[in-house]
Amino acid sequence: MDRVYGSGSAATNALDDVDLTVPPGRFVSLIGPSGCGKSTLLRIVAGLERPDRGEVRVHGVPPAQACAAKMIGLVPQSPALLPWLSVLRNVTLPQKINKGSAGRRERIAGSGQRQAAPSAPDMRDLLVKAGLGEAMDKLPAQISGGMRQRAAIVRAFGLRPDVLVMDEPFSALDEFTRESLQDQLLDLWDELKTTVLFVTHSVSEAVRLSDTVVVMAPGPGRIVDVIDVDLPRPRGDRLFGERRFHEYEDLVRDRLRRAWHGEAA
Ligand SMILES: Nc1ncnc2c1ncn2[C@@H]1O[C@H](COP(=O)(O)OP(=O)(O)OP(=O)(O)O)[C@@H](O)[C@H]1O
Ligand SMILES: [Mg+2]
Repeated sequence: MDRVYGSGSAATNALDDVDLTVPPGRFVSLIGPSGCGKSTLLRIVAGLERPDRGEVRVHGVPPAQACAAKMIGLVPQSPALLPWLSVLRNVTLPQKINKGSAGRRERIAGSGQRQAAPSAPDMRDLLVKAGLGEAMDKLPAQISGGMRQRAAIVRAFGLRPDVLVMDEPFSALDEFTRESLQDQLLDLWDELKTTVLFVTHSVSEAVRLSDTVVVMAPGPGRIVDVIDVDLPRPRGDRLFGERRFHEYEDLVRDRLRRAWHGEAA
């Protein structure tokens, strides 16, 4: 798949010959220097833009169709919650809007490309699991940035998307909030069996969370390495003391360094 912005001498090859298969239920991270096309790839998967060459399939259907059937949940870098609605009403809003599209999703399921849609989870329960039990009835302006970020994740999970697409969701958070959100994300992922495509600049975050780390390089934007992380789960705090975890970190960091130098060359 290719994606080119602009034309002629001003053209940017945001994605060049990118070919990636993500098996259902896997947690895949994209990591790479700024401008290597991570967000572009996510936007294409989420159906927000189209490749100039090649195609993308989400459980067998084009992203726009998967999106219309609410099979894809997007967590953008800065969460857009409606300021006049409580946290609870914000996270349940997509489900209310979605009621009419459930049939469509079943039809896609009926074509044999995916399993039957699971029932909507109890959003209150998800909010409590995400540490937002006390914040449920507050307005977005009354809670912290980290809480808003968690609310956006719960909202995306609430539709039980087959594919959850997250663009640097934890980048603006302190280390401990970030670790706690990673834990909550892994718990939700484990429970809902969603496929996750996750963009991060943090090597340790990528290694801790992922089944697979995809390393990308810019100029043109491309995939340079696909590293399977063969570490047991659950990956709690003890992981940070384990030698193999640090070996994976070193491996990803080494590939990233090469990607970065490739850019400078
Ligand atoms: N709408 C656009 N118009 C023109 N060029 C764009 C557009 N969106 C992205 N680009 C270019 O495409 C390339 C890839 O951008 P993209 O946002 O996907 O990078 P990224 O890997 O997400 O970077 P970062 O880590 O900084 O978020 C960059 O060179 C960027 O300038
Ligand atoms: Mg980006």
